[in-house]
Amino acid sequence: MNTIAIANQKGGVGKTTITINLGAALAEMGLRTLLVDLDPQGHLTEGLGLTEPEGDETLAALLLGRTSVSVKTLLVSHECGVDVIPASINLFLTERDLVHLRGREYRLMRVFEPLEDQYDYTLIDCPPTLGQLTDNALVAARKALVPIQPEDTSLRALEMLLDQIYSIREGLGLTVDIIGLVVNQADDTLVTRRTLETLAKAVPVPILASIRRRVRLKEAWAAGKPVTQTEPAGDAAEAFRTLAQALTTKRQQEVTA
Ligand SMILES: Nc1ncnc2c1ncn2[C@@H]1O[C@H](COP(=O)(O)OP(=O)(O)O)[C@@H](O)[C@H]1O
Ligand SMILES: [Mg+2]
Repeated sequence: MNTIAIANQKGGVGKTTITINLGAALAEMGLRTLLVDLDPQGHLTEGLGLTEPEGDETLAALLLGRTSVSVKTLLVSHECGVDVIPASINLFLTERDLVHLRGREYRLMRVFEPLEDQYDYTLIDCPPTLGQLTDNALVAARKALVPIQPEDTSLRALEMLLDQIYSIREGLGLTVDIIGLVVNQADDTLVTRRTLETLAKAVPVPILASIRRRVRLKEAWAAGKPVTQTEPAGDAAEAFRTLAQALTTKRQQEVTA
């Protein structure tokens, strides 16, 4: 199973949009794909038109060891071909309660163990914080894909994420690779080009794809579907297919290397 955390503590940069639409593009390629909503705000769950579970059968309860249900009971399938582990409101408390638990950074990794052979790709939609939940995602995935917007504050956000990854290496002895940046809400202005040049010089991470600003993405969200379903022939859907292709090609190279 190839697990990737979609992470950036900056909110509104496109983590959830990219998780949903990249996931759908991977599923279109015939890859068994799981999307995990690790944000207490539940945007991915909402953006796929799913309802949040309650009680014991939640990811929050599993992370805290407060239920004996199997992770498999949490899986919900979406008509676009992906499976989803939805968020639940009690993930807010999980962020706080994890602090006191033994092995707190490894909890999500252990939750995923029974799913090892069930999926080709697992994408984790991280919350807009660098807290316990994001640490769990980075440790479970060991790979991060980072959506950024072409603006000045993006560099600082990226530096903070790199610091977090460094502290995981120092504290836990685990490496986490940033496999690439996805520039979101890109346009053709000079400001955008300059910002991207500055970023490229400061951080040695490849840009895997650029996604333009498209109102279709918001419309798809409101319809509870990926854009590959609502407007399959549009350029937004195509951009996510290109990103999916870039990821799988990269993976192929890693496996052969
Ligand atoms: N390329 C895009 N074009 C138009 N709207 C977008 C695009 N990417 C994201 N959005 C919108 O911007 C808002 C924030 O995106 P979201 O994916 O929720 O970011 P994050 O998960 O990082 O907080 C959402 O309303 C989403 O629909
Ligand atoms: Mg989000």
